[in-house]
Amino acid sequence: MSSSPRVTKAVIPAAGLGTRFLPATKAMPKEMLPVVDKPAIQYVVAEAVNAGLTDVLMITGRSKRALEDHFDRVPALEHNLMAKGDEKKLRSIQEATELGDIHYVRQSDPKGLGHAVLCAKQHVGNQPFAVLLGDDLIDERDELLSTMIAVQERTGGSVIALMEVEPENISAYGCADVAAVNGVDFVRVNGLVEKPAVDEAPSNLAVIGRYLLHPRVFDVLEHTEPGRGNEIQLTDALQELATADGEGAGVHAVVFRGRRYDTGDKLSYLQAIITLAVEHEELGDRLKPWLSEFTASLDK
Ligand code: UTP
Repeated sequence: MSSSPRVTKAVIPAAGLGTRFLPATKAMPKEMLPVVDKPAIQYVVAEAVNAGLTDVLMITGRSKRALEDHFDRVPALEHNLMAKGDEKKLRSIQEATELGDIHYVRQSDPKGLGHAVLCAKQHVGNQPFAVLLGDDLIDERDELLSTMIAVQERTGGSVIALMEVEPENISAYGCADVAAVNGVDFVRVNGLVEKPAVDEAPSNLAVIGRYLLHPRVFDVLEHTEPGRGNEIQLTDALQELATADGEGAGVHAVVFRGRRYDTGDKLSYLQAIITLAVEHEELGDRLKPWLSEFTASLDK
């Protein structure tokens, strides 16, 4: 058993250019796109807070105002809703501002996810911390982050989350070469490769947007050269940690079998919205019959 300090900090990178979602993301971060009735980022912050990570640092880029404004109070709007006695809408806007203190750091040049994580170095200090990607949603009914925290506390290194994908889709993800560890339900990561060609992928286990990182990752990121896409890749830094020795080395993985929604590209975003809207307590009952009728009309 390791003596790692308790994990309390979450880092949420949201400074990418979102090129897969242009033109919607020309002036607005993709993390602000609504998923049913809330921006994607709100689900992610709520997930961190629900897992006990009370100190949230968001890495923002250009157009960061929308992100900051969303988690800030708007007194004029609150007074207006209060005067109308519209408690429900009032609660809905307060939900985002009551999630706790959110800190912001700017990544002036989006040089890649690894570089975005490095921007958190000063705020995080010398403790293990979580990274949650702002466009990757984990269904709140399925547990992932607290399991990863427990595995990190046990192994003392870094922990990633993997999900099985169809082998032909693996080249859209980071991919892990893993080995079973006796007596536990997590695996050891032997190697990682970012977006491999299908015939060169070591497995069909894709890296998804949740990480529990040992602060040693910052030392590695300081010298990680730009990799795939000319970006400083977090995957490359984790590959180095996976094969290193000493304090903070080693990478383990939790294989997630729950529901995940990717809001970073157009098709998976639409699928995420339909899935969650069908289950939404106010919208589901009205959406389902319409959806059935609509899909039946497509078959004609
Ligand atoms: P992605 O690769 O999905 O984001 O990064 P992107 O670069 O914005 O997307 P496309 O490919 O151009 O459409 C995963 C996460 O890392 C953040 C993104 O905001 C996203 O949440 N990121 C990426 C940064 O914060 N900084 C970067 O330099 C790159």
